[in-house]
Amino acid sequence: MKLDTLCVHGTAFSETSGAVSVPIYQSVTFKHPALGQSTGYDYSRMQNPTRQALEETIATLECGTAGFAYSSGMAAIANILELFSPGDHIIASTDLYGGIIRYFRTISEKNGLTFTYLNTADTDSLLSAITPQTRALFIETPTNPMMDITDIHEVSNIAKKYKLLLIVDNTFLSPYFQQPLNHGADIVVHSASKYLAGHNDTLAGLVVLKDPALAEKLRFVYKTIGGCLAPLDSWLVLRGIKTLALRMIRQADNAIKIANFLSTHKRVKKIYYAGLKSHPGYEIMKRQTSGFGGMISFEVDSSTTASNVLSRIQIIAFAESLGGVESLMTYPSVQTHGDIPENERNARGINDRLLRLSVGIEDVEDLLVDLDRALL
Ligand SMILES: Cc1ncc(COP(=O)(O)O)c(C=O)c1O
Repeated sequence: MKLDTLCVHGTAFSETSGAVSVPIYQSVTFKHPALGQSTGYDYSRMQNPTRQALEETIATLECGTAGFAYSSGMAAIANILELFSPGDHIIASTDLYGGIIRYFRTISEKNGLTFTYLNTADTDSLLSAITPQTRALFIETPTNPMMDITDIHEVSNIAKKYKLLLIVDNTFLSPYFQQPLNHGADIVVHSASKYLAGHNDTLAGLVVLKDPALAEKLRFVYKTIGGCLAPLDSWLVLRGIKTLALRMIRQADNAIKIANFLSTHKRVKKIYYAGLKSHPGYEIMKRQTSGFGGMISFEVDSSTTASNVLSRIQIIAFAESLGGVESLMTYPSVQTHGDIPENERNARGINDRLLRLSVGIEDVEDLLVDLDRALL
């Protein structure tokens, strides 16, 4: 089956009524037929039929063998980090969602993990950062918010050679445009609050793995910590996924038109969108993805212009988050990356002139008028 069809039909879930939509099993616990017997469902922290339908759907879309659904993207990442032990070393992209860096620097370091941050596209510096304690590589591609691109296949060869787990945050492209497990990654993680749920109405996280033994280790963490996704929210993400194909195509289509408009605007000094041929990651994106996505970052001529744009946009909302049907504009230096020290932020280009746009499914002409008016 093609990906568009899999998004609509998801898992082969069936139940006696013939319901087309997976029912919401709003039950904490499940009756046992007799001592030592189970229907396969015992307690909702371990298994819930609605959540299982979502987990099977995302595992299918990401070409993995097991999926796990959590109450947020951060909960998913926190569970993954429990696969490691004190003393383990992880190499991560310098440019990552700020909340993930905050997690690594506060909670994971307190628990004895160590981190090296670098541009994971630069394989020489990646190789020189590997130590006998290194256990994993954690990458985003495209990164949030600078849209750096890493060649997943190339990095996965390094990971395999040194027996490291390659973890890819696939939030920005979703499995519709990029399937990291097919390029050699071991674990894929999503903030499903973004493209997968797709409507700016549900907070969720998803993880997919290929190796059954590793999946069992994560299942133990999952049932022990909790943090799993509630049945109603699982259903909302499943419903979102049904239209994933349509939304991704429309958002990417709108995004390239907006990127072209911004790249010639007099107030825009830099543009970061991997769908532009001028982007250094363009060729890699063409090889490893089937679309360039709907995320654009751009730098305007002054912080005053940035602040004017944020107060003048009318259709696009000035709000954190991304990937939903509504276009959102974010100010990374204050919002998503506000916890990163200013000098580090500036060195990465996350300055007070940088704006990040999550392109929605509105009519692109309306979005262009909104941006043109705001950039005056
Ligand atoms: C790339 C990326 N990964 C993970 C997260 C965390 O996800 P959540 O907000 O669902 O906890 C975010 C949130 O913005 C993100 O942008």
